[in-house]
Amino acid sequence: MPRIAVIPGDGIGLEVIREAVRVLEVVEARFAPGCELVHWDLGADRYLRDGITITDEEFASLADEHDAILLGALGDPRVPGNQHARDILLGLRFKLDLYVNYRPAVLFDPELSPLRDPGDIRLDVFRENTEGVYVNLGGTFKAGTRSEIAIQEDLNTWAGVERICRAAFEHAVTRGRSRVTLVDKANAMPAAGKLWRRVFGEVAGEFPSIETDAMYVDAMAMDLVRRPNRYEVIVTGNLFGDILSDLAAELVGGLGTAASANLHPGRHALFEPVHGSAPDIAGQGLANPMGAIASVVLMLEYLGHDDAARAVDDALHAAVDSGVRTADMGGSADTEEVGTWIAARISDASA
Ligand SMILES: NC(=O)c1ccc[n+]([C@@H]2O[C@H](COP(=O)([O-])OP(=O)(O)OC[C@H]3O[C@@H](n4cnc5c(N)ncnc54)[C@H](O)[C@@H]3O)[C@@H](O)[C@H]2O)c1
Repeated sequence: MPRIAVIPGDGIGLEVIREAVRVLEVVEARFAPGCELVHWDLGADRYLRDGITITDEEFASLADEHDAILLGALGDPRVPGNQHARDILLGLRFKLDLYVNYRPAVLFDPELSPLRDPGDIRLDVFRENTEGVYVNLGGTFKAGTRSEIAIQEDLNTWAGVERICRAAFEHAVTRGRSRVTLVDKANAMPAAGKLWRRVFGEVAGEFPSIETDAMYVDAMAMDLVRRPNRYEVIVTGNLFGDILSDLAAELVGGLGTAASANLHPGRHALFEPVHGSAPDIAGQGLANPMGAIASVVLMLEYLGHDDAARAVDDALHAAVDSGVRTADMGGSADTEEVGTWIAARISDASA
């Protein structure tokens, strides 16, 4: 019986996770996957109330006593520096060693793309999630002066590159994708580039049915706008993956619809919409819950409930097709109306 920790977090995280939970409840009624939802009070309110971000015991419980985590978003203007968000989000990412950041970008409707002729976009980005420039190695010398020196190191390990490449190739095989593209900046950053290219080639050798190619990140940014439907699976480092997956999300309908999975395959999994807590629209019913509901699709797939995942995905598509959209997608529905419509669609499909 899968145990799922539900962490709404801050701002619109609470609103979109309410709709994701509504969807999980109808999934339970129709498919009976037996998911137990455990609600967690982690976020700015708790930090401001108790002065605690997250304890070691809570990390241990999330790691050992749950099969998956469903997170809304963290970040609150009342907490300068967002210490709580860093502790919880980066804490989970690093302590659970969630090295895969998987972000699919699928175009539901050509109208949603800012591109004139987007074609059929179905792009899966595999971003390395625990290394690169985000490990915060380095420092500042003569800080605050005109002689200030800032060093931010880019850390890449053979093991780290190998496991993210393997995850991308395994995904391509299981999802019937035909090509994996490595994205790097091997011309200007040759030390990291040589490692990535060598290891990518070694791993590719184990998957002879999958075609491969490699692109520099600047060329890829250009090409994603020019002909995004050329790409299927992209594997890349932390920084480039962060940027390219936002670009990919925007090509298919924007931040409000984008879902992500943070995985240590076989061990830990955290699912979250890509967007943040959006304090500018929080509490107004304007938040698009589709990214959170699409994250539920990824979670159900991960837990092995493919029928339930397909039903939620079909209902999401149907909502877009029927014009049940929030303002960011050009519609007039509020957060709850979108969630309720999708939940009803899932229930009705079983009738
Ligand atoms: N994973 C996370 O928890 C996460 C990710 C990004 C940002 N943050 C935090 O969120 C806070 C706000 O950050 P930001 O403004 O840079 O990014 P954001 O994603 O919260 O918002 C960016 C813009 O997109 C809009 N938007 C975002 N999600 C939307 C949705 N579901 N429906 C409709 N519109 C949506 C917002 O209104 C805003 O105009 C900050 O504290 C930041 O640190 C958290």
